[in-house]
Amino acid sequence: MNDTVLVSVAWPYANGPRHIGHVAGFGVPSDVFARYQRMRGADVLMISGTDEHGTPLLVQADKEGVSVQELADRYNRQIVEDLAGLGLSYDLFTRTSTRNHYAVVQELFRGLLDNGYMIRQKTLGAVSPSTGRTLPDRYIEGTCPICGADGARGDQCDNCGNQLDPVDLIKPVSKINGEAPEFVETEHFLLDLPALAGALEKWLKTRDSWRPNVLKFSLNLLGDLHPRAMTRDIDWGIPVPVEGWQDNNAKKLYVWFDAVVGYLSASIEWAWRSGDPEAWKKWWQDPEATSYYFMGKDNITFHSQIWPGELLGYAGKGDKGGEVHRYGELNLPTEVVSSEFLTMSGSKFSSSKGVVIYVKDFLREFGPDPLRYFIAVAGPENNDTDFTWDEFVRRINNELANGWGNLVNRTVSMAHKNFGQVPAPAALEAADEEILGLAERTFDEAGELLAQSKFKAAITAVMHVVGEANAYIADQEPWKLAKDESARERLATVLWTALQVVSDCNTMLTPFLPHTAQAVHETLGRSGVWAAEPRVEEVTDDMPVDLVGVGLPEEGRTYPVIMGDYAEEKARWARVDVEPGTPLAKPKPLIAKLDPELAETGPEWAPVAE
Ligand code: MF3
Ligand code: ZN
Repeated sequence: MNDTVLVSVAWPYANGPRHIGHVAGFGVPSDVFARYQRMRGADVLMISGTDEHGTPLLVQADKEGVSVQELADRYNRQIVEDLAGLGLSYDLFTRTSTRNHYAVVQELFRGLLDNGYMIRQKTLGAVSPSTGRTLPDRYIEGTCPICGADGARGDQCDNCGNQLDPVDLIKPVSKINGEAPEFVETEHFLLDLPALAGALEKWLKTRDSWRPNVLKFSLNLLGDLHPRAMTRDIDWGIPVPVEGWQDNNAKKLYVWFDAVVGYLSASIEWAWRSGDPEAWKKWWQDPEATSYYFMGKDNITFHSQIWPGELLGYAGKGDKGGEVHRYGELNLPTEVVSSEFLTMSGSKFSSSKGVVIYVKDFLREFGPDPLRYFIAVAGPENNDTDFTWDEFVRRINNELANGWGNLVNRTVSMAHKNFGQVPAPAALEAADEEILGLAERTFDEAGELLAQSKFKAAITAVMHVVGEANAYIADQEPWKLAKDESARERLATVLWTALQVVSDCNTMLTPFLPHTAQAVHETLGRSGVWAAEPRVEEVTDDMPVDLVGVGLPEEGRTYPVIMGDYAEEKARWARVDVEPGTPLAKPKPLIAKLDPELAETGPEWAPVAE
């Protein structure tokens, strides 16, 4: 397995606070993966930021009656808090409205143009007859011309997965106000995907470790590729770096052209902020380095086709050939890991429909680890999954509190009460060897599953050890041994064994439950940072960069970012021997049990619907 790992996490639109559906798709899975990779000693760079261009922001700003800038600033800050609060360990979580991002995006565009992969063409664009404003693809709905499904969007049909243009839709209507759009002629730059299809296919055919749904979907897309517009008639976005275009405030780069470049621009910003501006190259230019992209399933096209297409064209690797530009030959995604959707009572999470559970409310009431646990064990890894308060309460109470919390609590309590420290074991019996052996083997089993992003199976394997450890204690009845002065050695051996297994389970649960893991680490009488947490910091937009055009971000603005010193943490993916003689204090309760009534009613901020 490779040791240089880029963890690329989808960039949330800064158009609202995050709900638990969002973080189930991209947030928790990517963080579990990154934390595991750091624990196995990989050099991880985990990056993302808020996606601040495109119509989703324009529409929301209109709705709230504020400027787009104000909206972006507000939700950038809110999202930073949501994600840091969940303990997502980004090396840098930035935003697409930095000057550096603009500059990197313009450089990629120019490289593609120079290599011939951006073709200038007259196309038909949709306009709202009532407002005169351009209607973005995603806000036009109609019948799919390919499969006949209703509700296809102007950019894509979710039913058959084909990419569409708004003009192709049968009976198109605006999702904003229901009117039929008008189509007017307009000029754009299109990414020449047909000229990149051969290179894309060759690359995709080497990706046999991807989740089958992603690979099949991506290969299918290649069947019907046509050039795709990478500019838009919109006044919010990154200027098109071409003479005659860059000063036209009514034309900008397409939000999906710019957002995916964020993975590169954030890596460059991270390197600059870390004091070594060249450091990003290790993750992007070394062909041995790996990169894992995490997202919801509606983002697959952009990561398995548009982004690789941009990278191939920028390096001159399509049918038209071309030069290598400023950033060199950049690595293509090693894996595109996509999640399905988390739903609530059958309807897709949607702020607009009012079916929503916000991360910030969740964190305030339950803290981060219960949500992380739920998403890992019951999240939408392979299927759309319905969130219910009933299942949440059941899993937290039965599995996390009664299973894990209780195992830690009773083991440490008994060791504290009888020995005041980690006791020294005498000769091990078969039952002791067996539970220790199971815990040790599970490092390999769960580790392999984590490396393949099989998070459910991984946490299930660890929770199996927790269950077996509880059964071991029930069988050994240390409370009976404690009453028998002649069984002192056996008591020491059983408690030492149980403490070692608690330590092992805690290590393996660390990627999933980092906050709890730190507490258990201390409960075991250990010190120092076991699992590092991200921090929010205020930085200034003052990187020296070259930019062209109008409507550029001002220099010197400040903004919040997520960063962290993860190299300082002690957690490693291996057994840590419990040391006899380590003082143990009386443990504090680890995981709060939830009121069973919550299962029926939900909390007042997200009540169960009648
Ligand atoms: N903002 C997009 C969404 O929420 C995701 C962008 S991912 C990136 O669907 F690749 F473009 F960064
Ligand atoms: Zn279709």
